[in-house]
Amino acid sequence: MMRKINVGIVGFGTIGSGVIKILQDNGDIIRKRLGATVEVVKIADLDITADRGIKVDPKLLTTDVQEVINHPEVNVVVELIGGYEPARSLILQSIKAGKNVVTANKALLAKHGDEIFSEIGDQHVSIGFEAAVCGAIPIIRSIRESFVANRINSIEGIVNGTANYILSKMSDESCSFDLALKEAQEKGFAEADPTFDIEGIDSAHKIVILSQLAYGTTVNFDDITIQGISGISIDDIECAREFGYRIKLLAISKCDGDSVDIRVHPAMIPQENPMANVNGVLNAVRVCDDLMEENVLIGHGAGSLPTGSAVVADIIEISRDILSGSQLRASPQSFQNAEIKTIPILDIESIDSEYFLRFSVLDNPGVLSRISGILGNHSIGIFSVIQKGRCDDGRGVPLIMMTHRANEKNIQLALREIDELEVVCEKSNFIRVEK
Ligand code: HSE
Repeated sequence: MMRKINVGIVGFGTIGSGVIKILQDNGDIIRKRLGATVEVVKIADLDITADRGIKVDPKLLTTDVQEVINHPEVNVVVELIGGYEPARSLILQSIKAGKNVVTANKALLAKHGDEIFSEIGDQHVSIGFEAAVCGAIPIIRSIRESFVANRINSIEGIVNGTANYILSKMSDESCSFDLALKEAQEKGFAEADPTFDIEGIDSAHKIVILSQLAYGTTVNFDDITIQGISGISIDDIECAREFGYRIKLLAISKCDGDSVDIRVHPAMIPQENPMANVNGVLNAVRVCDDLMEENVLIGHGAGSLPTGSAVVADIIEISRDILSGSQLRASPQSFQNAEIKTIPILDIESIDSEYFLRFSVLDNPGVLSRISGILGNHSIGIFSVIQKGRCDDGRGVPLIMMTHRANEKNIQLALREIDELEVVCEKSNFIRVEK
């Protein structure tokens, strides 16, 4: 007789609808590959009347999440409501009830992963969270399984589809920030609170999860540097283009064994770099390790079906474990619990980088030499300079510089000093350059 895996879903929003659609439309191919059927037996959501464009037996729908968690036949609880609470409590309750869990909740795992993984170990059930990082890109599975023998030393990527969509639209269509964000929200890419996308917090959640898996370290989310794209203007994008660069929101993680450098910020990337040409909602992750120079994975990082496909893949992986009676074959955190340590996080002030600097200054003789003098006093060498426009009515003109490699702390001290000059009209801006 064909075996059956029963699934309960909590959260019938963009991803939940994608999961149901995939299980309905591709149920046959899933059965042929798995040797069992995957059946959704309960779906909980606060709103069970909205039209989601898919047919669901009304008997499956409930507003009471306990009907999913306590359903005696449910093998896998899929949490798709996002946020910290009540998601955290529902997941912990499900694990304690002996249910396997699949979640797309990066915020929760980045902040409370330890508690959830420890409960998973105690109860000997499985957890899948491929959909939490970069939608359809199988980056968690790659780190945990494909690169299991490799010493990973860096992961860098464009891991937020909404921010990438906004920056791409601003670069290619001179579209305004607000319009691009509105489109990303309409397409279902953005988080419930889009400041998570724009301010780099969502990217930070994802790079924290990847760093933990890659290096076997704990990471305190509050210790990492996070800077979003709300300060990026069309002027920055156009100046970057003149210098031969594109601006991307990058999540960066590097580990030398003694410390980890984890940060999220906009970065200028040379136009010829493949990462500079990953546009729209696409995500890209570049993994470097001791056995291969680099491996770049590119794919859809957000949206109903791409993210839904990662959720369904996790359900199927857990189903395989259930069917073969070999749960927790691979440690969810990629390292054995006892081997996980805490590698110190590098202070951003100690990094070295090249920098793009944008000043707004009075168009007077001697201004350039005063600014370059301060930069020189802080050991910052200038690689090239552009002054745009002319203005003799007391308003500022943009003065753009690219530096040689310099220390971040020196850059910050120099900009603070420059901003105090009476010839400087606005707070100066800098963007790190990543090659
Ligand atoms: N809001 C996220 C993004 C969704 O735009 O990438 C996927 O995590």
